[in-house]
Amino acid sequence: MPIVWVVFFNLIYGVSYAQAPPFISADLPEKEGFMRYEAFPKAAPFGDEIWVNEVPLKEFLKETTSMKFWDIFDEDSWVYLSSGSCIQRYKNARGYEYWKYPKGMRLVHRLYARTSPQRPFELRLIEKLGEEPDARWLFASYVPVNSSSMEFKRFEPSQADFKNLREAAFEIPALPKPLQIRLKRVHPHTCQTCHDMRSQSNFLKGTKRVAGPCGFIPSQSSSGKWAESLQKWVEEYKNGHGSGPFCGEVLNIP
Ligand code: HEC
Repeated sequence: MPIVWVVFFNLIYGVSYAQAPPFISADLPEKEGFMRYEAFPKAAPFGDEIWVNEVPLKEFLKETTSMKFWDIFDEDSWVYLSSGSCIQRYKNARGYEYWKYPKGMRLVHRLYARTSPQRPFELRLIEKLGEEPDARWLFASYVPVNSSSMEFKRFEPSQADFKNLREAAFEIPALPKPLQIRLKRVHPHTCQTCHDMRSQSNFLKGTKRVAGPCGFIPSQSSSGKWAESLQKWVEEYKNGHGSGPFCGEVLNIP
């Protein structure tokens, strides 16, 4: 990493990303004490277009019985709450749960192709920048500086090399021969539009509708895969931090 970025990185390290840093390390979640969780359902797009051996992914998966999506791709998801902050739970009269996330909360979604060795090809980051009623989330995506690097750089349409960075290609070990994967990355301008449709928001009076997390949201039932996954994450969070991720009591929606 060039020295100026080291200095810059240290200045913002641990502090809120009022603006997305231009460079990050792909193991930022491990380095900065994020807690991993398993997303359910896994519904985020891995690319705007994906081809396997020059056949669109959907067609490829229809035609082949031996390979599934998760034989080609992998992911992990992470949450960071700054120390002393917590998620406030609310319930409405019908028992429907809502969360107010603390300012400074970050979530990472890291995408991998099952190359050998397996490497992340994109890191997506969101951070809550403001408090209600002006809650806003920062959305940023990062891509490797080169194919073998763990140093990632911000991926934005204003960059001169945006077109080049938008395309990614990988080889996945498979029999009788490796699969050639080619994809067009999700356009960074579409992050918020999609998240806005699925995020919980607008539940506190006077609060503007904002795009925030769309998978890391309350589980509305005590059973099911997401409920189990969330419970596991809460337990691990307690073990790692001494206290849980939620603020005291569940409040009624005023
Ligand atoms: C077409 C819809 C869609 C687009 C576009 C999209 N996402 Fe997501 N994203 C999702 C869904 C659905 C989830 C939750 C399920 C999962 O994790 O697979 C998710 C999960 C995430 C998470 C984990 C926390 C959460 O929200 O639950 C982050 C961080 C994230 N996305 C960031 C981004 C960024 C940054 C972009 C733009 C590069 C982006 N997303 C583009 C649908 C989308």
